[in-house]
Amino acid sequence: MSQLTACAFLIGLVIFTCGAAADSDGGAQLIGVKSIANNLIVKGMDVTVQYDIYNVGDKAAMNVQLEEDGFPIDYFAVRSGFQHVRWTRLPPGANVSHTLILTPLQTFVFNASHAVMRYKVSDEATGSTVGYTTSPGEIAVIETADYDRQFSAHAMDWLTFGMMTTPSIIIPFLLWYASVRKYSNLASHSSRKNN
Ligand SMILES: *[C@@H]1O[C@H](CO)[C@@H](O)[C@H](O)[C@H]1NC(C)=O
Ligand SMILES: *[C@@H]1O[C@H](CO)[C@@H](O)[C@H](O)[C@H]1NC(C)=O
Repeated sequence: MSQLTACAFLIGLVIFTCGAAADSDGGAQLIGVKSIANNLIVKGMDVTVQYDIYNVGDKAAMNVQLEEDGFPIDYFAVRSGFQHVRWTRLPPGANVSHTLILTPLQTFVFNASHAVMRYKVSDEATGSTVGYTTSPGEIAVIETADYDRQFSAHAMDWLTFGMMTTPSIIIPFLLWYASVRKYSNLASHSSRKNN
């Protein structure tokens, strides 16, 4: 048990020192967020994929490349935006965004994985560093008919609601209308008598 604790402590220490070493190296460090803006993803309708890349390091990232290979052409048509984007320089503390608009061609469940970021951690760096954006995860592309059904279901709800509330408005109105007519008839009778 104590051996296990010592082991865990050592592993923790190794991870901590590695982290510290990476920090003291300095340079650019990119964090990428990939998100899908739509709540419902419908076959044949636009889907907006947004990429936000932040440089949380202390040097400018050079030759930043965003590579999105996660949307197979059999399943998605590109409406606008690029799957491969390049920025010459991203200063520390700065961010860039890119929007890709796609049209799903089929109904299916799809695992939206991460996109790849390649960049140089500084102007002097020789090799390039690879990072990954976050993954939106599993998304389900639904049929247009299902989408319509969702809406007509809501329309049905409103219709039912309307039909249930109508008597409570109509009945008092009819009563009021009947009484108004009765009184105006009386009034016109009496006015005729007075003439
Ligand atoms: C991203 O950059 C813009 C300017 O380009 C800035 O206004 C915005 O605050 C930045 N966003 C974050 C989260 O740092
Ligand atoms: C989705 O993809 C990621 C990475 O590509 C993987 O780790 C994960 O297990 C996948 N999820 C499902 C439900 O297949």
